[in-house]
Amino acid sequence: MKYTVSVIKADVGGFPGHSSMHPALMEIARKELGKQKGKLIIDFRVMHCGDDLELIMTHKKGVDNRFIHKMAWDTFVKCTEEAKKLKLYGAGQDLLKDTFSGNVKGMGPGVAEMDIDERKSEPVMVFMADKTEPGAWNYALYKMFADPFSTAGLVIDPAMHDGFTFEVHDLFEHKKVMLKCPEEIYDLLALIGQPARYVIKHIFRNSDKMVAASTSTQRLSLIAGRYVGKDDPVMMVRAQSGLPAVGEVLEPFSFPYLVAGWMRGSHHGPFMPVGFDQATPSRFDGPPRVICAGFQLSDGRLEGPADMFKDVSFDESRKKANKIADYMRRHGPFEPHRLSAAEMEYTTLPDVLKKLDKRFRKI
Ligand code: F6R
Ligand code: MG
Ligand code: MG
Repeated sequence: MKYTVSVIKADVGGFPGHSSMHPALMEIARKELGKQKGKLIIDFRVMHCGDDLELIMTHKKGVDNRFIHKMAWDTFVKCTEEAKKLKLYGAGQDLLKDTFSGNVKGMGPGVAEMDIDERKSEPVMVFMADKTEPGAWNYALYKMFADPFSTAGLVIDPAMHDGFTFEVHDLFEHKKVMLKCPEEIYDLLALIGQPARYVIKHIFRNSDKMVAASTSTQRLSLIAGRYVGKDDPVMMVRAQSGLPAVGEVLEPFSFPYLVAGWMRGSHHGPFMPVGFDQATPSRFDGPPRVICAGFQLSDGRLEGPADMFKDVSFDESRKKANKIADYMRRHGPFEPHRLSAAEMEYTTLPDVLKKLDKRFRKI
């Protein structure tokens, strides 16, 4: 049977500051989605990563469905009303437009969706991040689907041996390119090594074109033309039986690689995998976090979530992330802790620099 999994997220107000989520907002979201359970949607879960409200929904309407997107939008609007009442921080921050126009894409919320022909058993891992940008998934997806030193199945499992095709989006030029791996891994890396611009949107298995991964790619600053908080992306990955095993999907996060985001969306910092109860960026508004909710789909219903990064085997990654956080913080306002000038364009730094313009003299 064909089902759609939709993960739609927005920051509609933080508690306190940009650190976490007020329980009242999650309650409202659960109530709103609950009204549609058994009607528009089959099942749902409401979660949060830091100050981002995450709606995980299953249905039979296909991706980009206006009714599903409208339901998510209306839920964010309801939560924003409550956030304003409670004077939560940045209430309605990610709702960049006033009126809904058929699809939440380009309106602020992040979306990752996948039409799934449900297999005999269908494990789906939903990753949610805070204090970083969509390109943060590039490194992990490359490791999962193209690096045999990370995913053993690429070598051992005949069902994966033909590799995967990566759909890469150029977020600046609004173009996309399909790259077939392993043949084109050098071309792939040439692009995705610049994660601020090139982002992996989907991954397909070469042997049968089955979709294996989907991410959210919206960049708020590119929509709004100014800094409005980081995008805090989501990602969905199917696992097992000719796809990376659950453990191979998680393995890339045993290394807390550097991502852009953190304080004021302006700093590089380690991407720290944590359990659900630690998805509360605090030090210097971070460091950037990632949680993973593990599900088994069962006739479109969501069995789960299992808290995948809670496990002790990720303790070392967290420890290393804290060490890297110390090291990076010692650089203060210096690059490469602070993002490069091109990426700082969307922050408030250019206003500061403008003031100095008049004082410069020719040399
Ligand atoms: C990062 C983020 C925070 C804020 C910071 C300053 O994505 O949202 O780090 O940028 O807390 O916020 P303001 O300027 O609202 O005081
Ligand atoms: Mg926020
Ligand atoms: Mg956030």
